[in-house]
Amino acid sequence: DTPLVVVFGSLNVDLVCRVETIPRPGETVLAPGYDQLFGGKGANQAVAAARALGGEGRVAMVGAVGEDALGGAVIDNLAGEGIGTAAIRKAADRTGCAFISIDAAGENAITVASGANGRLTAEALGDERLDARSVLVLQMETPLTENLAAATKARACGARVVVNLAPVPRQLDAATLEQLLALTDCLVVNETELAAAAELAGLPAGGADEQAGALAGRHGIVVIATLGAEGAILADPVAPLNRIAAHKVTVVDTTGAGDTFVGVLAAGLATGLAVPDAARRAVIAGSLACRRVGAQSAMPTGAEIDAAQ
Ligand code: RIB
Ligand code: NA
Repeated sequence: DTPLVVVFGSLNVDLVCRVETIPRPGETVLAPGYDQLFGGKGANQAVAAARALGGEGRVAMVGAVGEDALGGAVIDNLAGEGIGTAAIRKAADRTGCAFISIDAAGENAITVASGANGRLTAEALGDERLDARSVLVLQMETPLTENLAAATKARACGARVVVNLAPVPRQLDAATLEQLLALTDCLVVNETELAAAAELAGLPAGGADEQAGALAGRHGIVVIATLGAEGAILADPVAPLNRIAAHKVTVVDTTGAGDTFVGVLAAGLATGLAVPDAARRAVIAGSLACRRVGAQSAMPTGAEIDAAQ
């Protein structure tokens, strides 16, 4: 069976330290210990989608891990979530690793050592894995050229493409952004990423509402800006601008909230929800994901999202 959601992207192991304040350049801070958790924006988005959809094989992950012990554990973790892992390759490199500091307010700072993620090629995405019902999900922790090739393949199969511009690639230029957005149905960004995209696209400086609206209008795509505790802005070129309020939670760790949003959004779109309905579920899920340390640990199931509405 063709999976509903195919995530083409990164897989990491996260090493997470809880600190009072995130160290500034030249500073050393102490943490009582650290956690080793499964992460990576791609893998997190796959897990969020799989939990929202429930069942086996509705989500497939395409990515690359290292030929090390961590790589096997990363694959087993996804398989345990009912995610298809046949398209995860082993590359002669180390499994991606994210070094994460979380401060007392639940904000984070992350350095990702890409390792095997840098070796992912679009060739790993077989055409047979996508059809007109499926949604391909991309983020920016794997090579940009391969993301473009993957999006091109998805479009050729009639699949929809959700792009999470996170993190904004250093080498991204105006022409490449234009190329990427031409292959995108729905762009998901946080405030920083929205500002970066708007600047690259040569849009006038402005607030998030104007920027999201302008980007959506210019490219004829849905643009969703996630605003943390402020919820999200939904800009659809054929509908009035929409603001979605966040669900109130006590924030322990925001790591993975954006990924939860993206995964649940893709799951909703793939099951035929209208964009505003899928986005509302995604906002709730993103809020719920902030209640525990770790990206995947607090991601809700579909039933938990329903219960929180
Ligand atoms: O978005 C959160 C993720 O970013 C973490 O799990 C970490 O692996 C980094 O990729
Ligand atoms: Na979390």
